[in-house]
Amino acid sequence: MNVLVIGNGGREHALAWKLSQSPRVSKVFCAPGNTGTALVGQNVNIQATEFAKLIRFAKENDVALTVVGPEIPLVFEMTKAEFLREELGPRSDQIPPVLGIVDAFTWAGLKIFGPTRAAAELEGSKVFCKDLLRNADVPTADYRVFRSVDRAVTFLREREDVPVVVKADGLAAGKGVIVCSGRVEALDAVERIGRQLEFGDAGKQIVIEERLDGREASVLAITDGQTIITLPAAQDHKRAHDGDTGPNTGGMGAYSPAPLVTPEMMSWIEEHVLVPTVHAMKRARRPFRGVLYAGLMITNQGPKVLEYNVRFGDPECQPLMMRLKSDLFELLLATAEGKLDQIEPPVWDERPSVCVVMASEGYPGKYAKGKPIRGLDEAAKVPDCQVFHAGTAFGPDGQVVTDGGRVLGVTAVGQSIPAAKLQAYTAVKAIRWDGAWCRKDISDKANS
Ligand code: AMP
Ligand code: GLY
Repeated sequence: MNVLVIGNGGREHALAWKLSQSPRVSKVFCAPGNTGTALVGQNVNIQATEFAKLIRFAKENDVALTVVGPEIPLVFEMTKAEFLREELGPRSDQIPPVLGIVDAFTWAGLKIFGPTRAAAELEGSKVFCKDLLRNADVPTADYRVFRSVDRAVTFLREREDVPVVVKADGLAAGKGVIVCSGRVEALDAVERIGRQLEFGDAGKQIVIEERLDGREASVLAITDGQTIITLPAAQDHKRAHDGDTGPNTGGMGAYSPAPLVTPEMMSWIEEHVLVPTVHAMKRARRPFRGVLYAGLMITNQGPKVLEYNVRFGDPECQPLMMRLKSDLFELLLATAEGKLDQIEPPVWDERPSVCVVMASEGYPGKYAKGKPIRGLDEAAKVPDCQVFHAGTAFGPDGQVVTDGGRVLGVTAVGQSIPAAKLQAYTAVKAIRWDGAWCRKDISDKANS
């Protein structure tokens, strides 16, 4: 069967790589893909938000399942009028007024892995997410929502001067969250988000919440809205520099499992976080299918939800795919069909995995593109290691060149986290381009 992966990052290369290993998959397409996905499948030059083109491609190429990598197409909207005008599926009064990629594919009669537009609000709107968590009694930071900047300012001036976090409601490429140590910073954050609209319309509503202390971990689960399969815990490294310093990034590396999340804590998270969230989504008539990714702060009072994402994390997906022994296609298809209860739970490699992101000079700020990457062949010879491409493209004479901020996710498994780390950095050392850099301490916090 043919599969279509939507996206062009390291996560999508890892998904396409794993899907291509399924005995049931004959061909993997990736739209638009990168040089890594071209190694395991065929790239298709269609962007993730071009729903009509994607649907036509999927129909013409017998795509049995489409897998959505990033959040943007899940939250992006096509109108019902556009869907009908493009003649993508039969007319029906039931078609919602706006469709995300999953709604559009489903109404077109195609199978797709991911949440509907309505369910993706869990990531697309922090206000929706926080209200749902509160109603479902899921532990999360105390918060207030403001639609008026002046009210937010008054609130901050009148209350005790304590650390808070100020968030733009909508998607802001991971940037609309400002962690503040006190009132002065918080007032500035409210100005930036709410008045200067630094993150665009995402800042039309503002969440101000209590700042939590503790250590962060990511717990991802796959659910069809009934059955929930929890994946091993993973740990991202959001800050640019060693020792968790420097600006926030999309993620400079990840490892799995995360020893911080003990088996007992995992059961607690399933019971008090994941199950009530899935039930609350059903009650809200937004049944959730896809990846439910809980960003958690492990506080003295136990785990609390910082945010939900509605897709695999990038780079958390890379170490998870390295450890997955079962057939990813079967798992994702069963989810899309609502038959997760009918398959065997996935089997994981006991060995830990570490992913080190190699980035362009200047990232997460401005960076140059088009630098030829050398040493990929040498890195490919390192055992138990995979180099997942993220921001890469083919240069004029066919060589692989840099094409983004996060360029590669060098991922290895090993008998222990330090062994996996060593293996990943061995491959990193083989790879060179002008301005390449990475954090040197990925996975060290697993041991602290
Ligand atoms: P989010 O996009 O909501 O996950 O926020 C991005 C990052 O901001 C998180 O990974 C945390 O490091 C930090 N953060 C968000 N909310 C809080 C909070 N309530 N307390 C402390 N840190 C937070
Ligand atoms: N690595 C964090 C994310 O994918 O949102």
